[in-house]
Amino acid sequence: MPIQSSPTRYGAVAQAFHWLIAALVVTQFVLATLADDLPIGAHKLALLARHKSFGMTVLMLAILRLLWRLKNPPPALPDQMSPLERKLARATHIAFYVLLFAMPMTGWLMSSAKNYSVSWFGLFTWPNLIGKNETAFDLLRSTHDTLAAILLTIAILHILAALKHHFWNKDNVLLRMLPLIKSEKAKSEK
Ligand code: HEM
Ligand code: HEM
Repeated sequence: MPIQSSPTRYGAVAQAFHWLIAALVVTQFVLATLADDLPIGAHKLALLARHKSFGMTVLMLAILRLLWRLKNPPPALPDQMSPLERKLARATHIAFYVLLFAMPMTGWLMSSAKNYSVSWFGLFTWPNLIGKNETAFDLLRSTHDTLAAILLTIAILHILAALKHHFWNKDNVLLRMLPLIKSEKAKSEK
């Protein structure tokens, strides 16, 4: 599979970013939900430490992904899509990119406002962005929660849209984001 995206297909790097970040985002929801159910203690803190490390990984990957995207524009959408569908697809993708930054940033700021350190898998510690501030912590915590709910909603719509393209419209929108699919098949189904 070519490294770079082509006019008809996402390349290996864009696909790797997409699926790695998608898997990490799912992991983030699982870890946060598990931690939420636990009383304060070592187990909860360990889960949240993992959540913070993966979350900061998402931030770094999102920066690299956007830089890669600037040099590698995505394939064009199928001609059959209406102007409204195109606008929705574009709005969803922009919202995802904003959230892939906003989620980690609000998490990082929230931890800073409590003066809790944010370690990256125990290898190094990220600096605190702001000083201890309970009011800021409450605001950032509720923002982080609200953004998570928005992210979840958009992700569900995004997955439903991908399935609609594949099973209803029968175009190549899902196939061209999948590795191990013969590119000839993906091309011929444009
Ligand atoms: C893509 C990245 C991230 C996603 C999708 C995400 C998602 C979530 C979700 C769903 C929750 C549970 C919210 C609830 O209680 O309903 C949560 C809580 C939390 N997140 Fe994140 N998060 C991300 C990144 C981060 C980062 C980078 C940090 C810190 C550096 C962080 C720190 C926290 C903390 C401390 C909580 C618990 C807040 C509390 O006490 O209720 N998150 N996150
Ligand atoms: C929470 C997890 C996910 C996130 C954050 C996410 C994010 C994104 C983003 C930002 C794009 C735009 C890529 C670009 O052009 O730069 C994209 C495209 C795409 N995603 Fe996802 N995605 C997720 C999960 C999924 C899943 C589970 C599926 C499959 C069912 C999927 C299928 C697709 C497809 C087919 C495209 C290409 C759309 C096109 O050609 O315009 N995504 N995704």
